[in-house]
Amino acid sequence: MKRIGMLTSGGDCQALNAAMRGVVKTLANSGEKVEIYGFLDGYKGLIYSNFQMLTGRDFSGILTKGGTILGTSRTPFKTIHEPDDNGVDKVEAMKQTYHKLQLDCLVILGGNGTHKTANLLREEGLNVVTLPKTIDNDLWGTDMTFGFQSAVNIATDAIDCIHTTAASHGRVFIVEVMGHKVGWLTLNAGMAGGADIILLPEIPYDINKVIDKIEEREKNGSRFTIIAVAEGAISKADAKLSKKDYKKKLEKYTYPSVSYEVAAMIQEKTGREVRVTVPGHMQRGGSPCPYDRVFASRLGAEAGKLILDGQYGFMVGYKNREIVRVPLEEVAGKLKTIAPDAAIVKEAKLLGISFGD
Ligand code: F6P
Repeated sequence: MKRIGMLTSGGDCQALNAAMRGVVKTLANSGEKVEIYGFLDGYKGLIYSNFQMLTGRDFSGILTKGGTILGTSRTPFKTIHEPDDNGVDKVEAMKQTYHKLQLDCLVILGGNGTHKTANLLREEGLNVVTLPKTIDNDLWGTDMTFGFQSAVNIATDAIDCIHTTAASHGRVFIVEVMGHKVGWLTLNAGMAGGADIILLPEIPYDINKVIDKIEEREKNGSRFTIIAVAEGAISKADAKLSKKDYKKKLEKYTYPSVSYEVAAMIQEKTGREVRVTVPGHMQRGGSPCPYDRVFASRLGAEAGKLILDGQYGFMVGYKNREIVRVPLEEVAGKLKTIAPDAAIVKEAKLLGISFGD
């Protein structure tokens, strides 16, 4: 008999349900008797002992369903050691819930912040197995996270749609892509959507280089330019600022987001018409793409296997096309960013894509 607690934490993404279904199906098919405690709204559910008892039937029919049947919320790691408004010690409360319910382990699905807390719980003696979710694909220890490919599809669709209107009007169009502080989503959607310029947090841009590319395209007879801008893109000048000075700049920032700043600079320097499209949270929504359904199911199956083997303290990841077990302490607190000299960046440059560098 295994008593499993399960929770999804942080921003949602596609295939969270598919991954949980993978875990539960694997456990059910093993013949082992399991009790599943589904904690609601992320770590909050664990802190305040807010859970639902779930059975295999609750996980049936959810393979294709976006979002998370458990709900989610953000419980920032940086305040995890601070008591809540009622003086509750969050870490102690999570441990108490775990022990009170006599759980054998927690299955935690999340991204970077979630993994820091998961590792903390491991250090506190709880059995933890995690699964890597996020559209940002920025989790250390895995080549890919689930949600990422689905978001790439949606962001690519957005760029595809913009392409036809950009061609008709002969304008410069910016599509702003999510991804927090990394550019995986923008780079992949940008390449898939045939963007001419891609601006990433990892490769600070020079607006004059961006304009050079627009003008070069015009000289070569192109009526329009598509720019894929990561929400975390940063100019070379801003990247040189100290953290303190950059924070000061942001305090006085009047643009809704970086794309509008890039658009204003292009408009001001060249007089060209620039339009900005921000698909935003659409990128996290809807049904997981077939790749993510398979991928998340495979990761979930491996997590189920880890539980059956009594192997805890691991994230189930993906390395060199293999499903792997990665010790949680190797994952927590590290960001997977794009190296500016990565093969994919070099190849994109060979294709004529400008990174504004
Ligand atoms: O981490 C996923 C993500 O969608 C990021 O790409 C984005 O920066 C962030 O979450 C948005 O967070 P929220 O949903 O809290 O606005």
